[in-house]
Amino acid sequence: MGLDEKLQKYQRIIQQVKSVIEKTDDLTARMASVIAIVYHSLDSFFWAGFYRFIDGELLIGPYQGTLACQRLPEEKGVCWAAVEKKQTIIVPDVEKFPGHIACDKRSKSEIVVPCFDADGEIFAVLDVDSEKAAAFDEIDAANLEKIVKILCQKC
Ligand code: SME
Repeated sequence: MGLDEKLQKYQRIIQQVKSVIEKTDDLTARMASVIAIVYHSLDSFFWAGFYRFIDGELLIGPYQGTLACQRLPEEKGVCWAAVEKKQTIIVPDVEKFPGHIACDKRSKSEIVVPCFDADGEIFAVLDVDSEKAAAFDEIDAANLEKIVKILCQKC
């Protein structure tokens, strides 16, 4: 996908996300709608979902794709790294990421974006996986960060 096409796709995704978010304050309903939009809009993604940060654990939330690990072993892998560093993590080659958790062996690259509440606390992470190596770049990071920011507006 070319740069312009990718930017236009994200513009459309963000418009769609804004419109579904306005319909409810319920976070689970919002997460489910957002993940369906993200997953079906960008066809290089084979798994997209949320892990919710609850009582010190990362538990599966709404997702699309193959069956995922329900609970992520503590302080290991990409999702936990995003929680600990409080920042987006792009992994071009999952095999080179120490402790990477492979819920599905087809995953070659990954991006994980932390979701912050109004107090600046992490309540979830957005995790997107691709069958292609190096599928994610700074454009994905910036736009997925925008999307998770919209997700928790007024909820
Ligand atoms: N790869 C993630 C685990 C979640 S699956 O990708 C759905 C990790 O290393 O944290």
